Amino acid sequence: MPQSFDVRLDDLTGSCPEPESGGSVIAAAAPGARTFYIETFGCQMNDHDSEKVAGVLLGRGYRQMESVDAAKLVLYNTCSIREKAAQKVFSRLGTFRKHPDHNKIIGVLGCVAQQEGEEIFERAPWVSLVCGSASYSKLPELIAQIEGGNRRVMGLDKDTDETFETEITRRDNPFRAYLTIIEGCDKSCSYCVVPFTRGPERNRASDSILQEVRKLADAGYSEIQLLGQTVNSYQDSSPKRMSFAELLVAVAGVKGIRRVRFTTSHPRDFGQDIVDALDAVPELCDHVHLPVQSGSTRILREMRRTYTREEYLEKIAMIRGARRAISLTSDIIVGFPGETEEDLADTISLLDAAQYDGVYAFQYSPRPNTDAQHMADAISEEEKGRRLALVQDHQREIQIRRNDALIGESFEVLADGASRKAGQWSGRSSSNRILNFSSPQPDLLGQYVQVRVTRAAPNSLVGEHVV
Ligand code: SAH
Ligand code: SF4
Ligand code: F3S
Repeated sequence: MPQSFDVRLDDLTGSCPEPESGGSVIAAAAPGARTFYIETFGCQMNDHDSEKVAGVLLGRGYRQMESVDAAKLVLYNTCSIREKAAQKVFSRLGTFRKHPDHNKIIGVLGCVAQQEGEEIFERAPWVSLVCGSASYSKLPELIAQIEGGNRRVMGLDKDTDETFETEITRRDNPFRAYLTIIEGCDKSCSYCVVPFTRGPERNRASDSILQEVRKLADAGYSEIQLLGQTVNSYQDSSPKRMSFAELLVAVAGVKGIRRVRFTTSHPRDFGQDIVDALDAVPELCDHVHLPVQSGSTRILREMRRTYTREEYLEKIAMIRGARRAISLTSDIIVGFPGETEEDLADTISLLDAAQYDGVYAFQYSPRPNTDAQHMADAISEEEKGRRLALVQDHQREIQIRRNDALIGESFEVLADGASRKAGQWSGRSSSNRILNFSSPQPDLLGQYVQVRVTRAAPNSLVGEHVV
């Protein structure tokens, strides 16, 4: 999930940076009938779903607009992982209460849609579409109903075994393509809404995945990021019955693909065969995101994570035992009900033992439907904040030390960002480190270049293009 080595300072979303807000909602001029705007919150799976939703709309002759003002159909693809993330969509919807625009059609997609369902129409009667991700295969039909004038359309089924595959996917990044291989989640971590909001696990057939990878390679993508809430729990739904490790190798073997990433891995299903694949195939990126959530076996049991601290550390040892250096990142929740000072100390000592290159740490947020919601011994928000700061400060020190040790090393970087300053670029290494670097060459976008690290910060590195 995480794409960067940040220790998150805020508690917004688990998996990816929040996009900037869209424009104001006061219409400047009547927008064209077939125009849409989509804003996405939450994890990379949501980002990718939005790319597919955009594809469905483009296939129906819609144009994507950059601002709410310019669009007739306004869609919010929402996240419900923590309370603050869920509140965001209601603050967006609230702006329409203040400035109603009867020409617009407003839709709520994603995890809040699935969780709140019809309630959304009650809270915001100007919303016309409420659709959770497990019903996206019905989206073309739902949009046709809206076009036909229906102003209350819902898709809230979860009992589908279809995955959401689209004819057209409008991908945001020209070099790296997301590809969901497993939807939903069958684990039942006691704090987590995902099994409720994304439905049961559905696996895409390996043939169909590989066919799409070939198409992506032909279209010029060189990096593939395989997605799933528990990506390594993948079970091929075709008779080939490829294991996840075999699938990784097959994806990496497609001509034109230079990098394959995968996120998020669940520790329980992370086996030696994956490490062996990473060792054998250079195209597989040397980064594993393996969320631990807590360093205390007692809390892990309460969280129903299905592993102990010791079992988790064995997985880390297995990854560290690979022939090449593999960078490691994690997610941590502090302030789970009943978490004692001792439990917190266990989490902090696990940071020392694991030596992560990046950690996303969050304050526990009680969520609807989950078993942890009403657990005794809730920790106050203030105390959760104190614990979060302790974890973040500790991890920052680790990252400073680890990143300082990289000064002088060279990394192959896919340059995918240019700074406003001439000659300044940014990109990621195979190990998912962000490098900001200078180069005498005029246009590097989309190129793989060697960059030598000259300076280190806790969350990124500065370097120069080795020409
Ligand atoms: N499927 C992934 C993570 C999904 S959500 C996994 O199993 O690791 C991304 C992160 O959000 C989680 O790893 C967890 O650290 C955090 N998270 C999930 N539910 C939360 C909650 N109720 N409160 C705070 N953080 C939460
Ligand atoms: Fe949530 Fe656990 Fe599933 Fe991850 S594995 S999505 S934390 S239930
Ligand atoms: Fe959020 Fe749903 Fe992803 S709750 S983190 S958008 S799966």
